[in-house]
Amino acid sequence: MTSETSTTAPAGEQAGPDLLARRFATLGSHSPLFYEKPLELVSGSGVWLTDAQGRTYLDGYNNVPHVGHANPVVADAINAQLRTINLHTRYLNSRVVEYAEALLATFGGDLQRLFLTNSGSEANELALRIARQHTGHTGVLVSDFSYHGNTTSLAELTTGLTVREPLGAHVRPLRIPDATGTAGTEAEGRLLEQALAEVDAAIASLQEAGHGVSAFLYDPLFSTEGLLQPPAGYIEGVAARVRAAGGLVIADEVQSGFGRIGTSMWGHQMYGTSPDLVTLGKPMGNGHPVGGVVTTADLLDEFGRHNMYFNTFAGSPVSSAAGLAVLQVMEQEDLMAQAQSLGGYIAGRLRAIAAGSFLVGAARGRGLFFGLDIVEPDGSGRPAPGLTKTLIEDMRERGVLISRIGRDDNVLKMRPPLVFTREHADLLLEQLQQALSGLGR
Ligand SMILES: Cc1ncc(COP(=O)(O)O)c(C=O)c1O
Repeated sequence: MTSETSTTAPAGEQAGPDLLARRFATLGSHSPLFYEKPLELVSGSGVWLTDAQGRTYLDGYNNVPHVGHANPVVADAINAQLRTINLHTRYLNSRVVEYAEALLATFGGDLQRLFLTNSGSEANELALRIARQHTGHTGVLVSDFSYHGNTTSLAELTTGLTVREPLGAHVRPLRIPDATGTAGTEAEGRLLEQALAEVDAAIASLQEAGHGVSAFLYDPLFSTEGLLQPPAGYIEGVAARVRAAGGLVIADEVQSGFGRIGTSMWGHQMYGTSPDLVTLGKPMGNGHPVGGVVTTADLLDEFGRHNMYFNTFAGSPVSSAAGLAVLQVMEQEDLMAQAQSLGGYIAGRLRAIAAGSFLVGAARGRGLFFGLDIVEPDGSGRPAPGLTKTLIEDMRERGVLISRIGRDDNVLKMRPPLVFTREHADLLLEQLQQALSGLGR
């Protein structure tokens, strides 16, 4: 289970016993809550959040409020559209077309068609369906510690979070190689060779079992996995093998997209191969539920010829207004460039923290999605999930919200709204350094 959804809360002081009891009495006690003492947040602005007691927190965690909590441009766009007209897409309306044009302009090559959905799960479900129909195969390759959503088909390929469904017989999990710190060395080359041999074996096994290969589904940042950095050539190698077997490549940009990595709008653009389908979600509507699948004209036409695909809420004028406003703010405030320059600054400081602390292994991430491995203080390099949890709780006491990810739940997850500035980064890093020093005592 990843800690993104991990804490089932004990009785909490901070949230107020009444609210917590009422929540348990209605939503049940399994609906995940962060923190030992769940946090009741009542308002937000930019990168700041305020709790029910009036305390403010720096948001170093949330990527959904991409252009800032309670962004007035997004709120006004939603409000104005809602007061004008909001309908499904079976009537002509310019807003959805304007949004499709603006969004597709951020993609290159053949990725020039869009399906709108209401969530990342729905987007991945649709992408898998398109891939199955196009290829006539059912086999899927995924990372062995990943999460792509909560539908039945996605539960059958969930490897990084607790689900009751067993792994589908048509699914082959791949161990994603982590080349962090080995760039350009022989070790990186060996890692690549071994990992691609594993891909060959997985494809052969799918073919022998009669499933064939319909898709390789991956998150370009390998975020649930703990921000792994595959060796150079890995994604290209997997894509070539999958395509040779007749399959398609799906990049899940729910976490890595919308300029977060700084160097490009889309995470997959850091690799030398373009996917056939790209799935979108989280930051797309700044909290308004918007998701999507971007693909080629050929794949969309083929799917459209055989399926009357309709979606009541997706692509409504209000959703489209929200999506357009996000793109507009990103451009006006040059947020992708900001993610690149600030990300570079943060990466440098994280490397310095890693070099100076025996509790920290590697510094990870790209742009405004960054992490630190927390390890046992005995020099063994062993992951330290307990210390990581303590650190996150301590950061909350210090007024900074972060979380953790990774197979061993020991990678600090820092993924703030894109309107994060140098001042915010300095505050987060300062508190992190102090929290680490506190732990090292
Ligand atoms: C990489 C990735 N894909 C898909 C999803 C599912 O998105 P949603 O919760 O909008 O259904 C998530 C959600 O955490 C995710 O992190």
